[in-house]
Amino acid sequence: IIKQLSAWEILDSRGRPTVKARCTLNSGAVGVVSVPSGASTGAAEAHELRDNDPARYRGFGCRKAVANINSEINAALVDRSIDDQHELDALLLALDATTNKSRLGANAILAVSLAFSRAVALEQGRPLYQHFATMQGLELSTLPRPTINLFSGGKHAGGQVDIQDVLLVPASAQTMDEALAVTFAVYQSAAELTLKKYGTRSLTADEGGLAPPFPNTETMLADAVEAIELAGYRAGHDVALAIDVASSHFYQDGVYNLDHEQLTSSALIERLASWLRRYPLVSIEDGLAEDDWDNWPALYTRISPQALVLGDDFLCTNPARIQRAIANQAANALLLKVNQIGTLSEAARACQLARLAQWRVTISARSGETEDDWLADLAVGWAGDQIKIGSITHGERLAKYNRLLEIENETHLPLAAWPGTSLRGI
Ligand code: PGA
Ligand code: ZN
Repeated sequence: IIKQLSAWEILDSRGRPTVKARCTLNSGAVGVVSVPSGASTGAAEAHELRDNDPARYRGFGCRKAVANINSEINAALVDRSIDDQHELDALLLALDATTNKSRLGANAILAVSLAFSRAVALEQGRPLYQHFATMQGLELSTLPRPTINLFSGGKHAGGQVDIQDVLLVPASAQTMDEALAVTFAVYQSAAELTLKKYGTRSLTADEGGLAPPFPNTETMLADAVEAIELAGYRAGHDVALAIDVASSHFYQDGVYNLDHEQLTSSALIERLASWLRRYPLVSIEDGLAEDDWDNWPALYTRISPQALVLGDDFLCTNPARIQRAIANQAANALLLKVNQIGTLSEAARACQLARLAQWRVTISARSGETEDDWLADLAVGWAGDQIKIGSITHGERLAKYNRLLEIENETHLPLAAWPGTSLRGI
């Protein structure tokens, strides 16, 4: 039984407001969470409610979302006996009564959904990751393998290169502890290399990635390989690479504007395939734009099984889009961001659909994050194959990495295998 819901504004890692909520149960258990916010967002995401008052935080204020929790949502849910997460989320959806959560705000709804789950876990005296596992009917099995932002471009940096992320995949690491130590070594080498090459060490990207002025994407990939080798690792064996092309953000009127060239969908697919031949890439996220549905099956055929075909903006953690992608054989991996859909139950359904199709699942943070660490518990509880949090330099990222280390210390779970033998085709 919920005794009280309350909320307030806090600031995220970009200094913009976001929502923090507290759920107090009659038993006295209190769950407090905050929610993240994206910058490189998908068009099909649930609606994040902002105040749009240009005089305050340039319109990014969240007072309306906060007020919705303190008044309407609290009034509707207080003193109600709610059996489980599913029931709570169904009540929230019915109360909002829009298809994209635009009335109450996905930021308000998700904050309540998550605060309730944390309060229930505390009431039951169980770690949050265990509570999340039970919600999915899963036993704890593995820790997610981290995929860690090394270089940034696109909307997360100054747009000096078009693609958004080059990530490290510590492929041979056996533990979280080892994966992070390997990452540190490569990150330091990359910082030294880019300082020498570009005369600048810019840690300015939103997720803490290095963002020097690479002349083009291929240099960015070659520098990543060099950094791996300078740190003493074998590229493609010990440490592989993943990219987030985030191609919706350089796609206009059927044309991809990449590296000062104009590419058709099939030309972009060929470009990605050529990168696969030349660089140790094992995962390509948003290789095509979110509404380029006709060409995703060709992308899948061309780059699988060598690399994961990972959908972020393309799928938006949206069960209907995931079902369509499965039916069209358009991808084989889901990037799961709970705030793209707005409740834990709907995100759980998205995760189940991906699993049923034998897809891989990457649990992901957003570029605007808070110091909350529930994402680490979610990735462990829902048996995420990978986790994507950003680089290992900013506090809001480290909160999650450090929580993963804590969970590893508590559970001694092994890291999820890479590459996965369970993945169809790999
Ligand atoms: P975000 O994007 O800025 O919307 O959080 C991160 C990503 O594209 O993976
Ligand atoms: Zn992405």
